[in-house]
Amino acid sequence: MKQKQVSFLYSIYSNRESLSSDDQTLLEEARLATEMAYAPYSKFKVGAAIRTDDGQITIGSNQENGAFPIGQCAERVALYRLAHEHGRKPIDTIAIVVDNENQLTPASPCGSCRQILNEYRSFQEQPMRLLLAVAEGGEVFEINDVKDLLPFAFDGSFLGQ
Ligand code: THU
Repeated sequence: MKQKQVSFLYSIYSNRESLSSDDQTLLEEARLATEMAYAPYSKFKVGAAIRTDDGQITIGSNQENGAFPIGQCAERVALYRLAHEHGRKPIDTIAIVVDNENQLTPASPCGSCRQILNEYRSFQEQPMRLLLAVAEGGEVFEINDVKDLLPFAFDGSFLGQ
């Protein structure tokens, strides 16, 4: 019998000012995206901003529906928008910002979004970094690679891709 352990390190910045100006800009784009969220049911507004390797930024926000399960998360809206408009450009960093009065620490992507992020990650050789924050102040979490959030993932390699 052998065993394997999976763990990962992530970084916690006490404020945005500790980050590069490019990262602060990306967080601000994600915060601005929360203003376009349609979240009348959860009141949990989320904005995502994706920066590709060439410095382009694509944003998205969560879009809910009275039929709850068909609502879309912010990350997915931004990712699909990027894929549709620009194809599979390598992604450097995705900032995800939550605007909700009860959410004082950054929130992390749901399980379905992790699966979807991982799919796009598998197209590129390089890590896909995440920055997680709340809209006003607070800590920023930096995850070096979305792969870290979905260990032992099911992906296209099982289907011969
Ligand atoms: N949500 C996102 O858009 N992204 C996340 O990372 C977590 C959750 C949305 C889905 C739903 O509209 C609301 O937040 C509450 O779950």
